[in-house]
Amino acid sequence: MEEKKIRERPQEGAPGRERPVAVRLSNVTKSFGEFVAVDDLTLDIQDGEFFSLLGPSGCGKTTTLRMIAGFEELTQGEISIAGEPVHGVPPYRRPVNTVFQSYAIFPHLNVFDNVAFGLRRSGVKGEELRQRVTEACAMVQLEGFEKRRPGMLSGGQQQRVALARALVNRPKVLLLDEPLGALDLKLRKEMQLELKSLQHEVGITFVYVTHDQEEALTMSDRIAVMNEGKVQQVADPATLYELPKNRFVANFIGQTNVFSGTVESASADRVTLRTRAGSSIDAVAPEGETAEAGSEAHAAVRPEKVRFGGEGDNVVPVRIKQVVYLGVSTQYIGELEGGGTLVLYQQNVHEGTGPREGDEVSVTWEARNCRVLGE
Ligand SMILES: Nc1ncnc2c1ncn2[C@@H]1O[C@H](COP(=O)(O)OP(=O)(O)OP(=O)(O)O)[C@@H](O)[C@H]1O
Ligand SMILES: [Mg+2]
Repeated sequence: MEEKKIRERPQEGAPGRERPVAVRLSNVTKSFGEFVAVDDLTLDIQDGEFFSLLGPSGCGKTTTLRMIAGFEELTQGEISIAGEPVHGVPPYRRPVNTVFQSYAIFPHLNVFDNVAFGLRRSGVKGEELRQRVTEACAMVQLEGFEKRRPGMLSGGQQQRVALARALVNRPKVLLLDEPLGALDLKLRKEMQLELKSLQHEVGITFVYVTHDQEEALTMSDRIAVMNEGKVQQVADPATLYELPKNRFVANFIGQTNVFSGTVESASADRVTLRTRAGSSIDAVAPEGETAEAGSEAHAAVRPEKVRFGGEGDNVVPVRIKQVVYLGVSTQYIGELEGGGTLVLYQQNVHEGTGPREGDEVSVTWEARNCRVLGE
């Protein structure tokens, strides 16, 4: 890239820093017969943002992307791109491009001709064509590969060709549907970081579909977590992890320990749950919300927020059922009195100092790390 700019990251809630909206979905619904695949989706994706749609298989991610691209008609609602409603606008007239999981590149054309394909069709030729193709190949680190056919490229390189082909048209928005799905884990991780810095450099809005929470956390400015056609929460990765809105998000993003019980007492800064097993758990309600005494509620604490021994808001006895050495950390699974398990991670700072299977120990965590979840 010749023009490397330091781009400002989107800052939510910062006054005067709001960016224009790249893609707006307003009450978008898509039904296939009786089945509602996407259910009343409302979402603003900001200009220059790396935005991910994350959720389990069948939750409506691809369908949403296809509606933005124009391959699928809406049953209800409206989509606008760069401020323009796109209803009735065919895919090739929309300022977007799509990269699919299957590379969809032409096996009989070399890299240059694959990347040049769309440009040639829109009448670009000569020096401009050469320059733009060369620039796109450089963006995805394929310089020197222009003469090769896809059959002579690795999976990762083929995916770069597909990317270059999508970028060469200079779309306002790039739609990516599990583009790294076919790659092995190591290459996938490398490409995640590369794609993220590429997006940063070119400044094009990326709408990225994945069912892999780790991938979404690694790459995205913001993530919309979807389930059964509905958006569960839209937030930046840290907020999703630290302040999940409901049980679905808490369980889908990372690992978590959930306690269910009756609210014994609730104030602005403390909620106490009584679990069925009789333990009392201190937690906090989401900002601006309170729990109602007597109601059923769930509270979640992340495994790395729990520690062995010591004092704290919550001290609970467990019997260690399983110890799993993971290199950087060790995962302990403890049995709670009265049933249920608790997962705990400990960094391996001092080797061999943790409890062993069968040990009876107490674990501790603070109320502020234990969040009451919505439904
Ligand atoms: N053309 C179609 N006709 C009928 N049902 C469809 C059609 N396309 C998608 N669906 C259904 O809509 C739901 C959402 O599909 P979609 O492809 O959007 O899921 P997804 O979130 O992309 O899943 P995955 O992670 O498996 O790719 C699924 O239950 C799917 O079977
Ligand atoms: Mg899909």
